[in-house]
Amino acid sequence: MITVMGATGNTGRKITAALLAAGEDVRALGRDRTKLAALADAGAEVRAGDAGDPTFLAEAFRGADAVYALLPVDLAAPDYHTHQSQVGEATVASVRAAGVRHVVVLSSIGAEVPSGTGFITSLHRQEARWRALADEGVVDVLLLRPGAFYESFRAALPVIAQEGVNADAVAPDVRIPMVATADIAAAAAAALVARDWQGVEVRELVGPRDLSYAEATSILGTALGRPDLAYVQLPYGEMTQVLIGAGLSADVARHAVEMARAFNDGLIRTTGARRLDAPTPFEDVAAELAAAVPAA
Ligand SMILES: NC(=O)c1ccc[n+]([C@@H]2O[C@H](COP(=O)([O-])OP(=O)(O)OC[C@H]3O[C@@H](n4cnc5c(N)ncnc54)[C@H](OP(=O)(O)O)[C@@H]3O)[C@@H](O)[C@H]2O)c1
Repeated sequence: MITVMGATGNTGRKITAALLAAGEDVRALGRDRTKLAALADAGAEVRAGDAGDPTFLAEAFRGADAVYALLPVDLAAPDYHTHQSQVGEATVASVRAAGVRHVVVLSSIGAEVPSGTGFITSLHRQEARWRALADEGVVDVLLLRPGAFYESFRAALPVIAQEGVNADAVAPDVRIPMVATADIAAAAAAALVARDWQGVEVRELVGPRDLSYAEATSILGTALGRPDLAYVQLPYGEMTQVLIGAGLSADVARHAVEMARAFNDGLIRTTGARRLDAPTPFEDVAAELAAAVPAA
C-alpha cells in the first residue's frame, strides 16, 4: 500500500491515478472531502486531514510500503518558512512513527542552495530533515527535484484575460528548466512501485528544453489564439504589490519575488544529479491550459 500526500493536487492526483492503474492499493490524502470523493470512486482509500497534524499523518502513513511526501504551499501564510517548517517536521516525524521505509519527496531544482531562493529555501530545509532521518538508517529517501511546473502558467491566465499581456518579475530571456506535472507523476509513481534506491538519492526532472518566459508566453499565446501575446517584466517591488493585491500574504509575495530574482541571477539551475529527462513539451500543456479557459 502506498500513501500519497496532496492527492487532490497537481502531482498527487496524477500519481494516484497512475498507481491505481498499475494495480497498487493507494491511500490518498487531502483536506477537501468533496475532491477526495472522486479519488474514492476511482478505487483509492481516502483520508481527510491537515498535514500539520502529526497524529493524522502517522495514522495515514501506518502500514504503507512507501509514501509520496510534499510540502503543501499556503499562499496566505503570514510567515511562509515557519509554516513550511511546521508541516515539514510533522511529515518527517510521522514517517518515523509509522515505520515507513521508502519515501519519494517532491522537492525542486535549486534545493541544494541554502537561502535566497524564495519558496525553494523551505525545500532545502526539508531535504535536510529527510537526509537526517536517512542518515539514521531509518528510511530510504528519493529527493525528486523537478524544474518549474508548466502548469504554474495557469495562474497567468486571469491576468492575460484582463490585461492582454503576461507579466512577472522573471527576465524575459532567462531560460528556466521546466517540466510537466504528468512527467513528475510518472517518475514518482514508478519510483514508489520500484523502491529501487537506498539511503538518499537525488533525481532532477526537467522537460525537453529550458524555456524563457518570453518563449513560454508566445507558446501559450498561440494556444490561446493570441499569437502576438506579449510578456512584460515587472520591477520586483511592483510585482510584490501585484501579488499582495491578488491575495497572497506579504511574506509569501516577498518569497515569490525572491524566487524570480534567483532565476534571473542564475542561482536556481540544474546540477546534473541523475538528470531524468521528461518528454512532454510545453506546447502540450499550453494546449490543455488554453482548452480549460471558458469561452468569452
Ligand atoms: N509550482 C512549481 O513550479 C513547483 C516547482 C517545484 C516544486 N514545487 C513544489 O511542489 C509542491 C506542491 O505540489 P503540487 O503542485 O502537486 O500540489 P498542489 O497542486 O499545490 O496541491 C496541494 C495539495 O496538498 C493539499 N493540501 C494543501 N494544504 C494542505 C494542508 N494544510 N494539509 C493537508 N493537505 C493540504 C491540497 O489538498 P486540498 O484539495 O485540500 O487543497 C492538494 O492536494 C510544493 O512543495 C512546491 O514548493 C512546485
